[in-house]
Amino acid sequence: MKILMVCLGNICRSPLAHGIMETIVKEKGLDWEVDSAGTGDWHIGSPPDRRSIAIAKNYGLDISTQVCRQFQSTDFDEFDRIFVMDKMNLRDVLNHARNDDDKKKVRLLLNTEVVPDPYYEDDQFDPVYQLIEQGCRRIVEEELKNEGLKN
Ligand code: 4NP
Repeated sequence: MKILMVCLGNICRSPLAHGIMETIVKEKGLDWEVDSAGTGDWHIGSPPDRRSIAIAKNYGLDISTQVCRQFQSTDFDEFDRIFVMDKMNLRDVLNHARNDDDKKKVRLLLNTEVVPDPYYEDDQFDPVYQLIEQGCRRIVEEELKNEGLKN
């Protein structure tokens, strides 16, 4: 399973989703790959926002070595699932889709809710971290349940 986490800047939310999902995957001993990207191009080549690095560190995760990159259409070929944080990300990623198979790979991380953008609100990084962790844990549970049904 290859999973891509996508937000707008790829410096606040999706790096957290990337780090949190990688940690859960390791915890569960799964053979999954995780990556992240942004729909925007402002921060290409940069590390995550220092506030995301700090909140991750509070929870024992080091995301400081991640490097920002922009989402591209070929990501649909690389990844099985593409999780976006909000409705704008959803629209932007779907705009890159070339066919229905591409579109089917894209979902909101929180299923029906959005992960709000914390960029302009320092005190939102902790609640955003917790929302993302809940979303990641639910995704892993659902995937494992579905795999179990197939076997
Ligand atoms: P993110 O947050 O999408 O969670 O990485 C943002 C980061 C940067 C900007 C917007 C949102 N920006 O406009 O530069």
